Amino acid sequence: MWKRAPVILGITSLLLACGGAPGSHSRNALDSGAHYAAAQKWAEAGDAVEALRSLEASFEGGLSSPMGVVTDERLSSLVADPLTRPSVRELLSRYVRESEAMLVTAKEPGDQIIVEGVIVDELSGAPISGAVVELVHTDRNGKYFSEDGTWNPRLFGYLKTADDGTFRVTTIKPGGYEDEEGVDVPTHIHFSIEATGYRAYGSEFLFDDDPMLIADALHQAGLERLRVAKRQAGSGVPAYLVTIPLQPLTN
Ligand SMILES: [Fe+2]
Repeated sequence: MWKRAPVILGITSLLLACGGAPGSHSRNALDSGAHYAAAQKWAEAGDAVEALRSLEASFEGGLSSPMGVVTDERLSSLVADPLTRPSVRELLSRYVRESEAMLVTAKEPGDQIIVEGVIVDELSGAPISGAVVELVHTDRNGKYFSEDGTWNPRLFGYLKTADDGTFRVTTIKPGGYEDEEGVDVPTHIHFSIEATGYRAYGSEFLFDDDPMLIADALHQAGLERLRVAKRQAGSGVPAYLVTIPLQPLTN
């Protein structure tokens, strides 16, 4: 079961022989990788409890890309299973560190898009680095999840803004849906943002090329109060840019 361990140890020995310092960073990286490999094996063996435990150990050990979990085929059962999905989200929210991530696997039906966000100070316009961003959206058919029961979204992301206040995700264009009163709502992505020194902010952003917005004067009139991702010029995967301001906390 642990056939890869000697290979990993071999690489570490080589690094040390080449002058690498035996510091905590390399030890953590080793631990993290070994725990991640264990998580993959446990997930494939159908032991979700041990898989989640190993995953947390790998995050704690400093895994550089926790969000890679959602596109890792070997861990796909953890996200697909509605019973373990909330635990994956909780872990990702706690160990968030990437400013760029894929939110969907290559198998996810739908049209791929890129969304870049910039989190800024509402008063100064200065970018806010280190802001934690949660994103949630529907699949192509407008569904957050397919099983019965409590809120348990299947497509999500946890990002931490870079030094220039940005995050960047590749995902699919969400599908629209009817609200509880049977009214169609425009395509949107929910966000929730926390940053030190700022009021937490949760809302949603729309897309400026949404035919529903363009056709609906009421929505048009309300756009100034909402966040709207703007389609960027260029060919290839459609890219959008959304700016989200945060309100500074006052003493
Ligand atoms: Fe929604």
